[in-house]
Amino acid sequence: MAEFHDLAELALNRDDHSWGNLGYWHTANDYSDACRALAQLLGEQAGLDDQSLVFDAGFGCGDQLLFWLKHFRVAGIRGANLSHSQTSYAQAKLTDAGFKDAAAAVMQGDINDSELWRLALQGDRPSHVLALDCAYHFPSRLEFLGLAQQHLAPSGRLALTDFMLADQHDTGSFVHRLLCWMLRRSHIAEANIVHRDQYLRQLQDSGFSDIRIIDISEHVMPGFARFARKLRWGHSIADTGKSLGWSGQVKYRVTGRFLEWAYRRSILRYCLITATKTG
Ligand SMILES: C[S@@+](CC[C@H](N)C(=O)[O-])C[C@H]1O[C@@H](n2cnc3c(N)ncnc32)[C@H](O)[C@@H]1O
Repeated sequence: MAEFHDLAELALNRDDHSWGNLGYWHTANDYSDACRALAQLLGEQAGLDDQSLVFDAGFGCGDQLLFWLKHFRVAGIRGANLSHSQTSYAQAKLTDAGFKDAAAAVMQGDINDSELWRLALQGDRPSHVLALDCAYHFPSRLEFLGLAQQHLAPSGRLALTDFMLADQHDTGSFVHRLLCWMLRRSHIAEANIVHRDQYLRQLQDSGFSDIRIIDISEHVMPGFARFARKLRWGHSIADTGKSLGWSGQVKYRVTGRFLEWAYRRSILRYCLITATKTG
């Protein structure tokens, strides 16, 4: 069965990279570099180091898992990804890079399934729960926050990059109805896209404190839109020789146009969020 999250992103990347996020385009010109920059920002804000046990929710094709292991030298990783194809790809990538144990510790499954957390963690308590550019896709971000809080070690850190509604956006407007239609087409639950103050309350109510929400929209949304505009059917912008199919081209170009619209009209903001488990 076709998956919404599959291996299409491979064609966007150069060399053997396989990132699939919106990227942080502050200084990067290339898709793979921009994606890595977003991961680096997240890892730094999370405070990853060689003592960290990371639970990675929605790890894509595995580049970020290798990045936590090699760049931040974290002590261990666990993780889950809804996509079968991406999980197999990530496991093979980790094995090829010599991280056989890590490959065995990440699994396919829905992050909102509490049994999955128990299976993936086997009684361990992660020091960090990360969600790089994916929490808006989860069936319920609120449930995810509850499960992260439940399983994190005391004073453990949560770090994610995520969308929220711009402060001035009116949920009673026609534009909001248009937004909801776009969200449905993008496999995003409407309930996940809330204003900043509600996002903050959800974190507090889920048992997090020391919360920081940094708006990084200007370095994410227009950059991805610019990149997507240049995509052409049959070849990737990175000239990798990997071919971007027609449906892939449509998917990314539509996403780019959507982000451009949502940024220019001040509808959505893209943020870096960190929080500490209370107690
Ligand atoms: C936009 S991609 C980001 C991938 C990756 N984090 C990266 O930065 O390259 C969203 C990811 O979230 C995963 N995902 C979506 N819904 C999920 C769920 N319910 N449980 C676990 N993973 C999920 C997708 O399979 C995909 O890997």
